[in-house]
Amino acid sequence: MNFETLLVETHDAVTLVRLNRPQALNALNSAVLADLITVFAAYETDPAQRCLVLTGSDKAFAAGADIKEMSQQSFAAMYGGNFFAGYDRITACRKPWIAAVSGFALGGGCELAMMADFIIASETAKFGQPEIKLAVMPGMGGSQRLVRAIGKAKAMEMCLTGRMMDAAEAERAGLVARLVPMAELVDEALKTAAAIAAMAPLAAIATKEAVDAAFESTLTAGIRLERRLFHALFGSEDQKEGMAAFVEKRAGAFKGQ
Ligand code: CAA
Repeated sequence: MNFETLLVETHDAVTLVRLNRPQALNALNSAVLADLITVFAAYETDPAQRCLVLTGSDKAFAAGADIKEMSQQSFAAMYGGNFFAGYDRITACRKPWIAAVSGFALGGGCELAMMADFIIASETAKFGQPEIKLAVMPGMGGSQRLVRAIGKAKAMEMCLTGRMMDAAEAERAGLVARLVPMAELVDEALKTAAAIAAMAPLAAIATKEAVDAAFESTLTAGIRLERRLFHALFGSEDQKEGMAAFVEKRAGAFKGQ
């Protein structure tokens, strides 16, 4: 697949997607969104691809939504056109994906990273929601996902001041799953993705659905969903294979059935 704003490679069962607008620090314009929607739809429907890594450059994961594209927009165009609603197509992806963040992840860049199932970051990563400095506010989920990731106090402080959080603080605060040296970021993310890709695909989808439900439901409803999904996996061939492989002391080979 060839894209104007993305570089896409496959590494066995892992899709690697690089944001590729270096001249604009990977600012997220409409072309990037259209390309991301296409690549995520292709990933979702390809059973051979079992995990995806989204990354940027060493300098920037993404420095936000494209300010130049937005600067002259009217209320009618933004509200009437439901600007940013296209990102719901990415968060609707049921299969696992990881954001591998180096450098700036600001505004929409931070928000895109937070749409991932988890973030692996390099020691140079910087996260922030600086929209308030532009007299706007987060518009791609930052006011909601950042609060859930790091709690109200830090999220409110970041959104109201626009200050950046460095990688160490982001890891301490729980925004980032793991920090790695910059030179190893993509390899580490690919290794982690390959480990996920080796799991039974139905178990991965069900696990993601259950963990995500923790944000949307009461404890009782979430635990009921978890239990039902756990029961449902006993209808899969992969469950028989996974447990047989344990008993026979070998690696399981999973088909997504
Ligand atoms: N939109 C459009 N262009 C951007 C951009 C953005 N978000 N961020 C950087 N660029 C462009 C710059 O305009 C510049 O282009 P030119 O060479 O044509 O002038 C190029 O990328 C390089 O940027 P800088 O020269 O500014 O690089 P720097 O290293 O000096 O600074 C930076 C880096 C601190 C990240 C700075 O670029 C910056 O502050 N960027 C904007 C960050 C921001 O405000 N993001 C939020 C956007 S709004 C949003 O995201 C809304 C939402 O909720 C979704």
